[in-house]
Amino acid sequence: MLENKILYGGDYNPEQWLNAPEILEKDIELFLKAKINTVTLGVFSWSVLEPQEGNYQLEWLRKIIDRLFENGIKTILGTPSAARPKWLSDKYPEVLRVRDNGVRNHFGGRHNHCYTSPVYREKVAMINTKLAEEFKDHPAVLMWHISNEFGGECHCELCQAAFRKWLSNQYESIDELNNKWWTMFWSHSYQSFDQIESPSSIGEQGVHGLNLDWRRFVTAQTADFINHEIHTLKKVGVKQPTTTNLMYSVTDVNYDKLAETIDIISWDTYPLWHKKEDILIAYDTGFWHDYMRSLKNQPFLLMESCPTSTNWQGVSKLKAPGLLEAASLQAVAHGSDSVLYFQMRQSRGSSEKFHGAVINNEGRDDARVFKEVVKTGVDLEKLGEVYNTATKAQVALIYDVENRWAISDSQGPRNDGMPYMDMVMKAYRALRRKGFDIDVISMEKEIKDYTLVVVPMLYMLRSGIEEKLEQYVSNGGTVIVTCWTGIVDECDRSFIGGTPHHLQEVVGLYSREIDGLYDWEQNSFVASEQSPFKAEYYCKNLCEVVEVTTAKVLMTFGSDFYRGYPAVTENQYKKGRAYYICADVEEKFYDDLLDIWTKEVKIKIPFSGKIPPDVEVNIRQGEEGKYIFVQNFSRENVDISCMKMEGEIIMGDDKMRLSPYATLVFKQNN
Ligand code: GLA
Ligand code: ZN
Repeated sequence: MLENKILYGGDYNPEQWLNAPEILEKDIELFLKAKINTVTLGVFSWSVLEPQEGNYQLEWLRKIIDRLFENGIKTILGTPSAARPKWLSDKYPEVLRVRDNGVRNHFGGRHNHCYTSPVYREKVAMINTKLAEEFKDHPAVLMWHISNEFGGECHCELCQAAFRKWLSNQYESIDELNNKWWTMFWSHSYQSFDQIESPSSIGEQGVHGLNLDWRRFVTAQTADFINHEIHTLKKVGVKQPTTTNLMYSVTDVNYDKLAETIDIISWDTYPLWHKKEDILIAYDTGFWHDYMRSLKNQPFLLMESCPTSTNWQGVSKLKAPGLLEAASLQAVAHGSDSVLYFQMRQSRGSSEKFHGAVINNEGRDDARVFKEVVKTGVDLEKLGEVYNTATKAQVALIYDVENRWAISDSQGPRNDGMPYMDMVMKAYRALRRKGFDIDVISMEKEIKDYTLVVVPMLYMLRSGIEEKLEQYVSNGGTVIVTCWTGIVDECDRSFIGGTPHHLQEVVGLYSREIDGLYDWEQNSFVASEQSPFKAEYYCKNLCEVVEVTTAKVLMTFGSDFYRGYPAVTENQYKKGRAYYICADVEEKFYDDLLDIWTKEVKIKIPFSGKIPPDVEVNIRQGEEGKYIFVQNFSRENVDISCMKMEGEIIMGDDKMRLSPYATLVFKQNN
């Protein structure tokens, strides 16, 4: 528990204004107007904190933290390792990253350091120790923000050696590694661990086991670096919780593992609002909010978001009036205990000078964006009781980044694009339209308590997921499984003896072949007379040809040589059931499948009617009752009387109608 209110504020870089103290005073005045209660400091301050090696200057930071605190504003304190001073890489070039072609980067940018380098680790430990000694007992410091947006990789000799060592701990012998990586193919076998090199665009790229293990190693090395940073703080007595800010759709590392190193999950979101229908952007953002919450199954923090347009995107689109608040409250609705922006005051120069900010270079409180920030701050104060309440999802969607690595590495069945994320998102959006809260989890998580588990394209099986799914269905759960599931093991070797591996009885069928479709090709799902489905659906990209054993065929393919073959099946397995979807089918199919399923199996939602298009619903569960967030993600008024919503309104005013981008929050007592 950090505070008893939703944290509101964001990244603040006052070291850019040390020669203009009036700016700090002006900022504080505006922060108070906007109900700002938290800022993040120090994330990119290393060159000011240690201008020369060993010359530590922390006084300016203490003064700012104190001055903000006098005004009731607390601090999330960054460790500065994400960007280092020039003197450091000049004196110790080993701290700079090496690319996969062996070339060492020059100084510049950020995230440009080696996680293995002992020198870098030592220099980070020293500055972190100084910060910890100074601020571990400071009442304004809420938590520690370790570095910034970890990602990327280094291929230097130190990292190569660490990789070899990591591998020799994973595998008992080089023979075992050769077997698991299937290196006999193309005569790529290794005779000893010392010969192994990281994957490279000018070297080895085609050994999938190597590629996977490299990603796992990079994850482990990144986690180890975070642990190192946290250790340096704890060693001097830091008790405040730790976080590190995660990012959207990251595939460099496995966030499940980074999540284990920190106390609280936080993430940075920069959606491309208005690029397509806003409700679609809202679902996409909602998916990542749910993923972040599910990493620890506890409230998370929205660490960064942009108050207006984001300058590094293809187009710097302004947020339409009202969207800033809708997007901010959406995070809270999905389980965030904060709304934090990047950035509090606009930078004057360099690459982010045109990035949106709470206070722009004009510095006025009558700016449109500032006024929206104020309104959001006022509204967030009304939602204080939502702080630290839970999300209790009855549905899980398995999205697994290691599975994503393996699918994108696979040669075939569709090098022109595998629809893994499309299939995940089609299912997610259909579940959302039903009003279900959804946990987005990896294969490593427990699934036994859900009513429904959706398993899109689980190509790779690891962490005993086959047994977990079997047990889950045996005990009465429902799974929806889609094509190209259960194909390879955790080393990316194909299973022998048919697929979906170890799930053939659960789904009541086995797979014979999979057809990759050209971009211009389509097939269809057609219903037989007894089928609960009444419509026809188109499908594309992939069609799997299966043979049923115990499953009932609900729909068949409409064309090609496998016309009449099963396209959708349902299998009763012990106390539960499994649906198998044999192709990448259009989204409407998932809506109808859920309609059919929910006629028989009930998932409790706190309203009896239907959710109108463009509206998203989320529930947070407190000790006294439920908080139901109903949000309009369109520029039109929406009639919500059809939802038949009951409860006391704690935010918003009209029970029947949502104005553009408006949010209503209802409370239903237990
Ligand atoms: C990231 C970084 C921030 C800033 C923003 C700009 O999220 O963490 O420092 O660069 O992007 O959008
Ligand atoms: Zn390195």
